[in-house]
Amino acid sequence: AGQEGTFSERSFVMIKPDGVSRQIVGKIISRFEERGYKLVAVKSVTPSKELAKEHYVDLAQRPFYPGLVDYITSGTPVVALVWEGKDVIRQGRRMVGATNPLQSDPGSIRGTYAVSVGRNIIHASDSFESATKEIGLWFNDKEMSSYQPTAWPWIF
Ligand code: TYD
Repeated sequence: AGQEGTFSERSFVMIKPDGVSRQIVGKIISRFEERGYKLVAVKSVTPSKELAKEHYVDLAQRPFYPGLVDYITSGTPVVALVWEGKDVIRQGRRMVGATNPLQSDPGSIRGTYAVSVGRNIIHASDSFESATKEIGLWFNDKEMSSYQPTAWPWIF
């Protein structure tokens, strides 16, 4: 996932089925673009059970896991994204907001669009290790772009 702490750091972000169904994909993408992050991979995917289970494997023992897997595999697609830029993992988590919408900052994505933990719109990697795992799970190397956004000399 790029190099941690550098401009090449990468995070995996997924707009969940409720975000797609509510037609706020563009708004969510805009927030990352406007912040100064670079889009290096994007695709619409209707996840298999296998993919959803592997993505959330660390939560396999939690009571909400089966419902979580059902929600991600409802048949409505998700939008899988890789964003690149300085501190994108930690900053992405702040932009997304707390897991439980009651605790999400009202300015965050979840704080703007979600009221229920089980329908909280978006996922973002929570560490460098998860970002590396998740990017590898959802994308292959050929799907990742390498380019210099014209805005970057101004942003950095
Ligand atoms: P988690 O990885 O703890 O949160 P985050 O998405 O903020 O990294 O949990 C993954 C998802 O599982 C979470 O986005 C929504 C769902 N979930 C529940 O449905 N109920 C819960 O009590 C928790 C903690 C999570």
